[in-house]
Amino acid sequence: MSDTVDDVDLPYDEDEASQQEKIQSLEERLEILEAQNEEMRDKLLDANAENNKYQQKLERLTHENKKLKQSPLFVATVQEVTDEGVIIKQHGNNQEALTEVTDEMREDIEPDARVAVNNSLSIVKPLSNETDVRARVMEVTESPEVSYEDIGGLEEQMQEVRETVEMPLEKPEMFDDVGIDPPSGVLLYGPPGTGKTMLAKAVANQTDATFIKMAGSELVHKFIGEGAKLVRDLFDVAREHEPAVIFIDEIDAIAAKRTESKTSGDAEVQRTMMQLLSEMDGFEERGEIRIIAATNRFDMLDRAILRPGRFDRLIEVPKPNAEGREIIFEIHTRGMNVADDVEFGELAEEADNASGADIKAVCTEAGMFAIRDDRTEIRMEDFRNAWDKVQAESDETEDVSKTFA
Ligand SMILES: Nc1ncnc2c1ncn2[C@@H]1O[C@H](COP(=O)(O)OP(=O)(O)OP(=O)(O)O)[C@@H](O)[C@H]1O
Ligand SMILES: [Mg+2]
Repeated sequence: MSDTVDDVDLPYDEDEASQQEKIQSLEERLEILEAQNEEMRDKLLDANAENNKYQQKLERLTHENKKLKQSPLFVATVQEVTDEGVIIKQHGNNQEALTEVTDEMREDIEPDARVAVNNSLSIVKPLSNETDVRARVMEVTESPEVSYEDIGGLEEQMQEVRETVEMPLEKPEMFDDVGIDPPSGVLLYGPPGTGKTMLAKAVANQTDATFIKMAGSELVHKFIGEGAKLVRDLFDVAREHEPAVIFIDEIDAIAAKRTESKTSGDAEVQRTMMQLLSEMDGFEERGEIRIIAATNRFDMLDRAILRPGRFDRLIEVPKPNAEGREIIFEIHTRGMNVADDVEFGELAEEADNASGADIKAVCTEAGMFAIRDDRTEIRMEDFRNAWDKVQAESDETEDVSKTFA
């Protein structure tokens, strides 16, 4: 029986075995193919992602390219919206033009709005009022809380600023009686962190005059004619609020020497400076307006700004001497819990070459050292450690700026 069964089964078995084998090998191949498939799919995904990335880059570059090829936009002010179109006045050259707008755009536009126009004077988009000098006046009349007592080691400079700025505003008759024109402006110059901005703020605090502060960098605008318009606004607002003091901090941003490069940005800065010069020269119309400017890049200033009649007084604000440093140490530790062993005279000698801003940093750091040591009283050693730290930090930044120079 078993033979028969074997006989019968044998071919079947053989068949089945080989088929089994085939299936197995097929399954193996399938597995391999599946693995390969998987791998390919991964690769495809990667490639797709890569493709996407390049596509995006391409789009960005195309966009950039288009923007670069586009001619620049100019700024204009809307004069009138009429049925025939919109009358605009270009900044810079003051030319008026009639231009057409879409109905959609017309809704966004009203007289006095600032708009960007292209070469053919079509309105491209309305602009927001980003810098409003008028708002600035309100802001400043209420602010600076610096007083003369907060400034150390600048007695002479302080005296001179007061003479040039405060006196003519408070006692104009003195100048009339004596028969001289009061000085029109002062330029404070000196290394960073020596108290120039502080000094101007103290004047603002002291005088009853309207104080308008504007940083040179804020006057530098990318739109043609904008910077000059801001300068004009600045003086207009000052005239409306006479007596007034205009403080232009970091004036080097607009009054740097003419450079070789002829980029339009440079030309725009030049225009802004020209406007400033012409406002300063218009002495008769200037009335009771004094100008204070500050810079730590005196070497960079265009000599035109220093001509007589513009800034009558150039006041150098140097780094403090030992005596000045001692006073500044005292000023900045007024509210601090300082131990009896602290000798500011000694510290002032040691912190040779420190600016006012450095000394302020030393005082804060000294406090930090005490806190780290779980003390509420600040000792001499804290100040010494702080000076070491501040010095090391400023060395570092100097190195960095040297690398970039
Ligand atoms: N003479 C000083 N007396 C007291 N504190 C000073 C003096 N000079 C500088 N400081 C401190 O340093 C800080 C920075 O000073 P300020 O902004 O007036 O320097 P600056 O001369 O305008 O510098 P920059 O040229 O960098 O604008 C002040 O807020 C003050 O805390
Ligand atoms: Mg300053």
